[in-house]
Amino acid sequence: MSDLYAVMGNPIHHSKSPQIHSEFAKQTQQDLVYSAMLVPIDSFESVAKEFFQKNGKGLNITVPFKEQAFQLADQLTVRAQTAQAVNTLMLQADGSILGDNTDGAGLVGDLINNHHVALKDKRILVIGAGGAVRGILQPFLNEQPTSITVVNRTFEKAKVLASSFKEFGNISACEFDQLDGPFDVIINGTSASLSGELPPVPDCVVGTHTAVYDMMYGKEPTTFLKWSQSLGAEKTLDGLGMLVGQAAVSFTLWRQQQPDSQKVLMELRKQLQA
Ligand code: ATR
Repeated sequence: MSDLYAVMGNPIHHSKSPQIHSEFAKQTQQDLVYSAMLVPIDSFESVAKEFFQKNGKGLNITVPFKEQAFQLADQLTVRAQTAQAVNTLMLQADGSILGDNTDGAGLVGDLINNHHVALKDKRILVIGAGGAVRGILQPFLNEQPTSITVVNRTFEKAKVLASSFKEFGNISACEFDQLDGPFDVIINGTSASLSGELPPVPDCVVGTHTAVYDMMYGKEPTTFLKWSQSLGAEKTLDGLGMLVGQAAVSFTLWRQQQPDSQKVLMELRKQLQA
């Protein structure tokens, strides 16, 4: 019988994970079935436990269950611990469940491998201080940037976040109106693009050498990427590569096989723009 994997979330109908993982399985000749499961808001723990009791091998977890998955895991990777959120669960040989967070590794891999954006010795601006940002900070700091500056609409949240990651590198919080630029790399980790809004970042943060990344993606460039383009940013990149990248890291953890994520990314991009 094929090994069983799934993504759990609510809503889940939009998820591209079944397509991505099925392509990865085909590429690497893995015998597995990967489905999307809509989980009632109050039932995550029981549904996930039942999945593993019925011999399911691994899960991806998306909104709004990443914190509950963090609670459910028996062991955690360091990056899951620092993120305080889990997007990947894996059944281990002894029956226990490992929790990992592959979002940050997916984003770092997309920047470095797909877009040739270096992070070492660079000044990085991260906008936002929610769960999405918490998931990427430790993998970013591992790349040894000169500094990471965190800004957020609610400044207090940026301060708390920066201080909780201090042991991993040079990270600090800043108010929007105190920012001086330009930065080498800017990451928009807010959900502002979902409603076509711009976080209140001053124009001076974008220079002609700046690489700008929005964790959101869509058929058209996001409002944030359009704004960066208008200021002459060298690169403006959306989060589709992060989506495929985090899936590739999860797949490699589960199957010890590294898929070709570029190929799948190109296919998804074609579909998105069709
Ligand atoms: P996620 O888990 O996707 O990060 P979240 O925890 O709700 O979601 O965080 C959303 C982030 O986007 C927050 O940093 C939020 O700012 P606040 O902490 O001040 O709420 C930010 N955000 C959402 N809409 C925004 C907007 N229109 N302008 C600026 N920041 C925005």
